[in-house]
Parts: sequence; C-alpha cells; structure tokens
Amino acid sequence: MSTVGDRELNGAVGIVHTSIEAVNDGANPYQTLAPLHDYGEAVIMPEGYLAVWGHQACMDIMRSSAWGRHLPDSSIRAAWQHDLTAEQAELLRQEEPPHIAPWLQTFDGPEHARQRSLVSKPFTPRRLQVMRQRTTEVVGRLAAAAPRGVPFDFMSTIAFPIPNQVVGELVGLPLQDRDWFAERAVLLLAERDPRSSFDQLRRSTRAIRELGDYIRGLLRGETCPTEGLASDLLEAEETGARLTEPELLSLMLLMYVAGHGTTAHSMGNGLYVLLQHPDQLAALRADRGLTRSAVEEILRWDSGVTSVDYSAVEDTDIDGIRVPAGTPAHLFLSAANRDPRVYTDPGSFDIRRTEGPTVVFGAGPHFCLGAALARLELEIALDVLLAGFASIELATSTPPRGDSFNYRYFTQLPIVVSDN
Ligand code: HEM
Repeated sequence: MSTVGDRELNGAVGIVHTSIEAVNDGANPYQTLAPLHDYGEAVIMPEGYLAVWGHQACMDIMRSSAWGRHLPDSSIRAAWQHDLTAEQAELLRQEEPPHIAPWLQTFDGPEHARQRSLVSKPFTPRRLQVMRQRTTEVVGRLAAAAPRGVPFDFMSTIAFPIPNQVVGELVGLPLQDRDWFAERAVLLLAERDPRSSFDQLRRSTRAIRELGDYIRGLLRGETCPTEGLASDLLEAEETGARLTEPELLSLMLLMYVAGHGTTAHSMGNGLYVLLQHPDQLAALRADRGLTRSAVEEILRWDSGVTSVDYSAVEDTDIDGIRVPAGTPAHLFLSAANRDPRVYTDPGSFDIRRTEGPTVVFGAGPHFCLGAALARLELEIALDVLLAGFASIELATSTPPRGDSFNYRYFTQLPIVVSDN
C-alpha cells in the first residue's frame, strides 16, 4: 500500500497543479489531465486535499458512506481561494439569505434522503412523457424562429431557452418571469467556483436573495402559481411530509439552477464537438438511431460539469491511500470520463461508443435527479436541429469559453444554419 508521503512525491501533484493553471488560462483541461491516468487514481496534494481522477475511485467515493458532502473549512475552496479578506468573508456570511436552507447537495443521511424523495416527484415516467412533448414543442419553436443564412448565437438563442422553458415549467415558474429568473440563476455559478472574486460572490448572494424572495411569493400565492414542483411540494406539505419554508425555497431554487446552466452548457459543448467531427455528424445524420449513444458520448466528452467535491467523514482508504477523516476530495469527473481503464481510446470522440457508465451525473445518494430529463432534452434538441437544418456551421473558429472552475461552457457559440 502506498503512503501519503510516497504519493506526494509522484508526478501527479505537478500535473494536478498544471491542470488547475490550465483551467485558469481557459485551456483544454482534458489534454492536461490525461497523463494523470499513469499515476493510479488519486493523490494527496500538498495543500491537504485528495485529488481524484480515476473512474473507479470517483465511483467509490460518491457511493461510499465513508464520504459525504459537508465540506470542512480546510476544503478545496480554502486551498485554492483567491484573496478574500477576513472582512469580506464575514460580510458575505452576513449577507447570506437566512430564509433559504442549505442546498440538497451539501448534506447527507436520512434528512437528505427525505428531502430528495419529496423533490423527485416531477421525474416519474409519466411526467417525463409530458416533458418530452413539451420539450419537442419548445425546441421546434426555437429552431423555427432562428435566423437562416446569417450568424446567430446558439447559446442565447437555443441552448439556454430550452432548459429555461423546460425546467421553468417543471418548477412551476410563470412564463413571463422565466427570463428574469434565468438572468439571476446564472450568477449563482460563482458560488461553486473557488476562484470567484468578492464581487462575483456578492452578486451571487444578492441573486439568491432575490430568487428566494420571488419563490417565497410564489409559494404564498402572491404571484400566479402554475402546476409544477411548487404545487407538488405544497401538496406534500398538506399530506404531512413537512418541509420548512426555507427548505421549500432551497429545493425549488436548486431544481431550476441545477437543471438550467448544466443542460444549456452540455448542448453548446455537444453541438461544438459534433461540428468539430464532421464524420461523426454525418454518421448521426445518416442514422438517427444513434442519437441516444451520441448524447452519451457528448456527455462523456464534455458534459459541462467538470468536478465535484466530497470530504471523508471517517478514516478511509482510496486507491491504496490512507485518508484521514475530514480530508476534502476534489473529483475530476472530466478526467474520470476519459479513464483508459474504462474507455478504449478515450481521447477519440465516437458516437457509437457503448462503454460506461460515465460519471457525468455523479453516483450514489447524490446522483443527479435530473439525469433522465437532461438526456431527454439533449436527444430532442439534437433530433429537432438535425431534422430542421440541412447545414449547421460554426461562424467562428474560436468561440469564447466561460471562466469557471467547475463548469466548462461557451459564453457564445455563433453558428450559421440553412433549411432542409
Ligand atoms: C447535462 C446536464 C446535467 C449534468 C451534467 C448534471 C450533473 C450533475 C452532477 C455531476 C450532480 C452531482 C453533483 C454533486 O454530487 O454535487 C448533479 C446533481 C443534481 N442535479 Fe444534475 N446535471 C444535469 C442536469 C440536471 C437537471 C436537468 C436537473 C433538474 C431539473 C438536475 C438536478 C440535479 C439535482 C437536484 C442534483 C442534486 C442531487 C442530490 O444532491 O441529491 N440536474 N447533477
């Protein structure tokens, strides 16, 4: 068995540091991370956290009760935090909206299971069938309205409006308020990025407060409520499954935020990779039966969610490394999805690939609640766009990427389309 000391000495530490720099520079992280697979599956970093890139090790951590989501102060954020003064940190703490309970992904155990089951209602097969129909209508409308023959931004014209409408409906947001909601929801991404500046974090906190106030109004009947999670959760209240108002607010807000940017980002990343691989795009156009496996490969290739953080709740072992309780772990899901122990030629994009499962949606008790919906939205988007547009071309060779530590996405993806 390796010891922490042995592991610190190996080259993996340097690669992890380089990959963090690469993320900071907006460079492609996959190339930087790939050599890590020569170094086992994980390493204890000098900063005190466990960096994990192996597919099996990621799965083991996410599925094990020895690991949880409560991140101690010495977490990744602290290790990589950019210059927040004690005063600024205190100010942020004071500005945190007191009327919103902790996010579902940040706690474990029976309380997590209880809240999770209440919020799972919209994902029954029957509801998903309805969502399929609605999503097809939404994508059809957006594609029909997109300009032909001149460049337009795929992200703001199609990729974001799809989940905005779909998850907006799922949560029960009135139609006229969904754009207002979406504008603020994107600001919340800063919260999970350890490099966010004080100003970004402050804007995020303000957005959480405004969105929380809005949902409180929705739940209290001040705005016109529509069918959706809001009514599900209120109904659950009536049948005795008690949730406090801060819990209701937190669950509804999370559902929108978790399902909005993630899905839009993966649509942008997916279209881009297909346009970069004309042979694969042609194969998909020729055999639309490949849509499902194409979506899986797009997600494996560049899902948009690059990492998640855990921490050891007891002394444990991972990949032969002794890990003391309280150790934070940073799981490079993006690297695990290209682990050569699981995928043949992991650096090639192949829409016929059948290996897996990927760790795109996490695993274990915190497995993504919206995985089926996200897959459905991606499949429908691909289907409708390929059926509707005879050609889709990039309007720039270097579309701008967003600057985020946990997410990988385009801020704009200019394309030109023509009709069939
Ligand atoms: C391609 C799109 C998506 C990706 C890549 C994605 C990825 C993930 C990942 C990796 C996790 C685990 C996070 C963690 O352990 O912290 C997660 C959790 C979650 N996702 Fe998604 N997600 C997507 C779409 C959605 C959608 C559409 C919804 C809902 C409408 C959703 C709702 C959630 C929720 C509620 C959780 C927390 C589950 C829990 O902690 O028990 N996600 N997602």
